Formats: sequence, C-alpha cells, structure tokens
Amino acid sequence: MRIGVLTSGGDCPGLNAVIRSVVHRAVADHGDEVIGFRDGWKGLLECDYLKLDLDAVGGILARGGTILGSSRVQPSHLRDGVERAKGHVEELGLDAIIPIGGEGTLKAARLMSDAGLPIVGVPKTIDNDIAVTDVTFGFDTAVGVATEALDRLKTTAESHQRVLVVEVMGRHTGWIALHSGMAAGAHAIVVPERPFDIEELARRVGERFEAGKRFAIVVVAEGAKPAPGSMAFDEGAKDIYGHERFAGIARQLSIELEERLGKEARPVILGHVQRGGTPTAYDRVLATRFGWHAVEAVHREEFGHMTALRGTDIVMVPLAEAVETLKTVPEDRYAEAECVL
Ligand code: F6P
Repeated sequence: MRIGVLTSGGDCPGLNAVIRSVVHRAVADHGDEVIGFRDGWKGLLECDYLKLDLDAVGGILARGGTILGSSRVQPSHLRDGVERAKGHVEELGLDAIIPIGGEGTLKAARLMSDAGLPIVGVPKTIDNDIAVTDVTFGFDTAVGVATEALDRLKTTAESHQRVLVVEVMGRHTGWIALHSGMAAGAHAIVVPERPFDIEELARRVGERFEAGKRFAIVVVAEGAKPAPGSMAFDEGAKDIYGHERFAGIARQLSIELEERLGKEARPVILGHVQRGGTPTAYDRVLATRFGWHAVEAVHREEFGHMTALRGTDIVMVPLAEAVETLKTVPEDRYAEAECVL
C-alpha cells in the first residue's frame, strides 16, 4: 500500500512518535510505502512531500514538534481545496491518508472522508478536549510542564507575598488548568466551563491571606471568561487567520485581584512552552500505539475512522462522532479539585 501521513494544527509533543510508529508498522511489517506531507494539509494541496523510510524516522521518538512541519491550512478553506487534494491523492497513487491533528484537523478529515478520500485519523492536542478519546497524547507532557512551573512559582510568590495568576493553555476547556492546578496544589483554578465571578474569586484568595498565608497561586485557562457583568473584560483581537489570540486573562485578572485584595499580583503566561520539548513516556507510548493502530485500520480499510483510547484499549471511532462535541471539564471533576484548593 502507499500511505500519506501529515501533521496539522498546533503542534504537540508525541507527533514524531506517531510518525515513527506509522513508518515502522507500515514499512517494516507490511512492506508499505509511506510519504509525509510537509506542513499539514498544505503539503497535500501543493504536492509537497518526502519519502519516509526507517532512516527518516530514526532518533525522532523523544523529539518535540513534528519533523513534517504543521500549519492551520485546511482544504475546505480554499475554493477548490477538496478537489485539488483528491486530484493529488489519485496522482500519487495513495491508498490512504493518515492526518494527525486536533479538532480543526479532524473536522477537515471528516469532510475529506465524506468527499470519498480514504482517511484514518489520529487525534492530538495538549488540551485533551476531544470527546471520543479518554486521553490525547501531549496532554500529559503539557500538564507536567505547567506543574513544574507552578511548583517553581510558589517559591517566588511566597518570597514576595504575592498573588501569581498563571495562565495555561486551553482555549475551550480547562483540563490543563484542572490537572496542573491539582498536581501543584494551586489555591484557585479558573476554567472556561465555569465563567467566574471576580468578587467570589477575590474573596476566596483573600481568605487565604486572612488565615495568615503569605501567597496565593491562581491557575487560569486562557479561554476562561468572567460571568457577564462581573468585571470589565477585553476579549482580545483575532490573529490574521481569524483565530483567537487571547486577551491575556491572567493580566486582566491580576489587575482586578490586586485592586480588591491590596496585595501585589503578577500575571505569568506559560504559553507555548507547554507545547514544546520532549514528550513524557506516557505520551510516547500512547502516540506509538495510535500510529500502530492507524496502520492496522488502513489495512482493514476502516476509513472515515480515527484511533481513540478507551480505558486501556485503542479502538476505532467514526470521524463523524469525533467532531460532534468537545470534552469539557464536568462539574464533579471540578468539585474534586475545589475541595483541596
Ligand atoms: O489547541 C492547542 C492549543 O495549544 C490551545 O490550547 C491554544 O489556544 C492554541 O493551541 C494556540 O495556538 P497557536 O499556536 O495558533 O497560538
């Protein structure tokens, strides 16, 4: 078989582990040929690709980012995009395409699959918000980076008797905020699923100081918003592609908390450091398993599906289901965290 692989959307630790696993399973075990498109769907649209053999994927397991490059270009965003992609798949004699990506990429994958292309998807996102899989690779790494940062920030916050408002990634969901906040013993966790009341948040943080504590750490997901009317809020400008760039909720929150508490407050934005660098062992294993199962699905011609983790098993889920809803932080998970804040 001839298989094309691509990585699309925001990068994520573990992408290279999937690529490596796909090549090992397909080339070494099945005798397939694998090509990798550069910079996501853009590579397919422009017929820009490289041959992926065992040498090409040597030594990449622990490397962050993606050796193929990524972009947010999607065929459906261009007038003749889907047709062009179909034409190139035929021209290149591809039997299957394995796109590795998050919400946007999986939506594009579904469209391409509906247009008749042989697609097997692999989900990825540090945000862990894809509903049909228990976990996405990249999340464990991101939580680890954020937790380490929070541990470090505690000591400087204490020295200066400050409130540090730490912004982590998560545009629609608060999974990174919840897990890193719990792991590091933060004093408040603010997530997009629960619009916050600034007075209530200030009261909670203030109680800590009244109890004689010298500092406070507030973890906030970048997509968190105040409850309507709770405080003035600047939504921020979109980037040149119309994607949210985020207004810096940590900056706005730190100003509001400083005014209400009379304590120095500083924003800390962890940003893309959460997405960079080497994946954890957990993420490498999950990514490797996804790659292996994606190739098996290609050989079973189980197109229009993607890999997913359910419990400890890897299963195949229809792409149509995968893009229906996001996995948000449920109330009971938030309550578990709240009790130890
Ligand atoms: O989807 C993953 C993610 O890391 C989000 O948490 C974040 O909002 C976004 O990507 C940032 O994307 P960009 O790299 O385009 O700024």
